[in-house]
Amino acid sequence: MRNLILVGPMGAGKSTIGRLLAKELKLQFKDSDKEIEQRTGADIPWIFDVEGEQGFREREQSMIAELCELSGAVIATGGGVVLRPENRQALSSGGRVVYLHASVEQQLDRTSRDRNRPLLRNSDPAKVLGSLMEIRDPLYREIADVIVETDERPPRMVVQEIIDRL
Ligand code: S3P
Repeated sequence: MRNLILVGPMGAGKSTIGRLLAKELKLQFKDSDKEIEQRTGADIPWIFDVEGEQGFREREQSMIAELCELSGAVIATGGGVVLRPENRQALSSGGRVVYLHASVEQQLDRTSRDRNRPLLRNSDPAKVLGSLMEIRDPLYREIADVIVETDERPPRMVVQEIIDRL
């Protein structure tokens, strides 16, 4: 069976929905950021501090290449995964890509209590999330097989819509 790959911005619910979806479909679940943290033995903010965003993107690219070799896994990705063309290529051929869309307002709401996102640490998060979306939304759409709205919807409802549309 092909992998199911979740892409979308920070706060779209990729990890929560991915875990539920995998449970529902009895598939294994892999979270790219968690795998990177396990492999590195350090958390994402530490990697950004010590190796910079570029260092993190290198690690992310090799992790994505590795995860896309799996079969029958639900894979949650980090919000910036679509920036590199190599990743977009790997994700497109690695499985069915589901874009979990969320408005900037919802992204803000869902990320506001979480300190684990280095890109939101030092500047106005609303501005950062808005400008990231301008760049990334077309890239998520470019590789999406299915686009699912997550605004104001509980994770279970999103999971059911994904299953219905696969
Ligand atoms: C990032 C999103 C994060 C994580 C890193 C960079 C981004 O993942 O990969 O902090 O560039 O949007 P989530 O989308 O799971 O928060």
